Amino acid sequence: MNFPVWDIGFAPGILIAVVATLHVFVSHFAIGTGLFLVLTERKAYRDNDQELLDFLKRHSLIFILLSVVFGAITGVGIWFVIGLINPAATSSLIHGFVFGWAIEWVFFIVEIIVGLIYYYTWDRLDRRSHLALGWVYFISAWFSLVIINGIVTFMLTPGTWLETRNFWEGFFNPTYWPSLVARTFWSFALAGVYALFTASLLKRGPFRWRITRYSGIWVLAGSVLTGLSLMWYWNAMPESALIAAQGAIPITQNMLSYFYVLSIAVIAIVAVTSLLIPRFNYTPVALIVALLMLGVFGATEWVRESVRKPYGITGYIYTNGIYPEEVDEINENGVLVWAKWISDDARDSKDPVEMGRQVFRVQCMLCHSVTEGYMGLNHRVRGWDKEFIYEVTGVLDSLRGQMPPFVGTTAERHHITEYLHTIAGDSRDYSSGKEVFDDRCGLCHTVGGYRDIVPMVEGFSADDLNETFLLMLEELAGNMPPLTVNDDARIMLADYLANLSAEEVE
Ligand code: HEC
Ligand code: HEC
Repeated sequence: MNFPVWDIGFAPGILIAVVATLHVFVSHFAIGTGLFLVLTERKAYRDNDQELLDFLKRHSLIFILLSVVFGAITGVGIWFVIGLINPAATSSLIHGFVFGWAIEWVFFIVEIIVGLIYYYTWDRLDRRSHLALGWVYFISAWFSLVIINGIVTFMLTPGTWLETRNFWEGFFNPTYWPSLVARTFWSFALAGVYALFTASLLKRGPFRWRITRYSGIWVLAGSVLTGLSLMWYWNAMPESALIAAQGAIPITQNMLSYFYVLSIAVIAIVAVTSLLIPRFNYTPVALIVALLMLGVFGATEWVRESVRKPYGITGYIYTNGIYPEEVDEINENGVLVWAKWISDDARDSKDPVEMGRQVFRVQCMLCHSVTEGYMGLNHRVRGWDKEFIYEVTGVLDSLRGQMPPFVGTTAERHHITEYLHTIAGDSRDYSSGKEVFDDRCGLCHTVGGYRDIVPMVEGFSADDLNETFLLMLEELAGNMPPLTVNDDARIMLADYLANLSAEEVE
């Protein structure tokens, strides 16, 4: 690895998520509002509706400010953040798509310049030319999506690019079209969300109700079409992504439920406060709808990012910057030799805990923090003994988190064990069999979901489980770590498991 590690003290995924969500939100909004402006402007000319034109003029001011300023700042922000957090994958993306990025940049410049001219030439240009500018704005904004969508979807489903390394095969990959269509419709819904906000600033009266209804239709129609195209997108996803979303990765599962709940909330609120009773579209309501929509975006992008685990680019580079083809070599020579930015002192340290800390830094810290917080490992490994930690690090790639495998020598695996054991602290007591299950089995199994434990223990009595099964986990299928808890805890677990299948039988 040619890059240093950025130690920010918390899981960097949060930072990427925040910056990326804001950027994606603003850039979709810019595309949708481009279309909203031209279609509505054309309608205003056709109906000779001066009130509507005045509204659009104000609408376009806040819009240009937001999309140009915020779009540019968050766009640079994304490069800054992913470049520091995940330099290897970022470098692959830049090298693979130099011309893609260059073209995207050209469209972005056109979008900004034309957007500004569009705003300043209301009333100064003849109607036809002004409308034409609006179309140029919308099309160049949409073309940035056409380009960047190829690169973003490539990361999840590179398709035949993996064998051919052909630019176009990577670009028009298996999820390219469904994602493009979904994002396009989504931008229309977002245009409506923004228009609901500017409508809420109008003087109360029939014109305002009319604009509110009109904007609400953009939100609802856009959302329904997005929903349908997301289903198409879903069907184009690889099997591994579906497994992750259907319960393997707990966070993905949570995000998916946020997506459903927030989407339904947006649709329900907008249906009531725009279509049914437009008087109810007060400014705070419109802002809440915008915030909820931001939440929908955040959850969706989060799901899309997380189902790609353990890869940064599926099948090509792991999330933590290690290429699968390097793994054998690293296992032989050691991960600290491979990581060029580790200081020689640390590499030659005779202190196993310090060496383990470095091993952790180079291959785990991209996703985990050593805290109690988001993706923190402190509470997850609390009370684990060395044997269990060592065995778990050997099977990281079969845990629910869909992690990359541990890489490095056996000695390094012992070092990271020593380090994680300093975090784990003293052994813990369990107060119920469920607690033992959550701590020792829950990292790979669930009850009733992914790798369901219920059918696996069905028909066994508590005694069978306690006296034979649980003592020989490492000899069964599945590469399981041994159960290294004391007898009391094992008896509780056996009772818990035996009752699970008993309940099922009833
Ligand atoms: C690509 C991101 C990623 C990397 C790299 C990664 N992990 Fe994980 N890890 C996860 C996810 C996701 C989970 C599941 C967490 C959850 O949602 O509860 C997880 C779970 C775990 C758990 C189980 C916690 C539990 O009790 O359920 C352990 C232990 C762990 N990781 C250790 C490590 C170690 C050690 C490394 C480095 C050798 C590492 N991880 C590298 C993403 C990663
Ligand atoms: C490192 C991940 C991991 C951990 C931790 C783990 N398991 Fe498993 N377990 C697996 C896998 C993988 C399989 C094989 C699943 C399959 O065949 O679909 C499996 C299979 C099983 C089976 C069926 C075995 C057979 O041969 O029929 C049982 C029973 C089981 N696990 C119980 C447990 C219990 C109890 C715990 C906690 C004490 C546990 N497992 C912890 C990964 C794990």
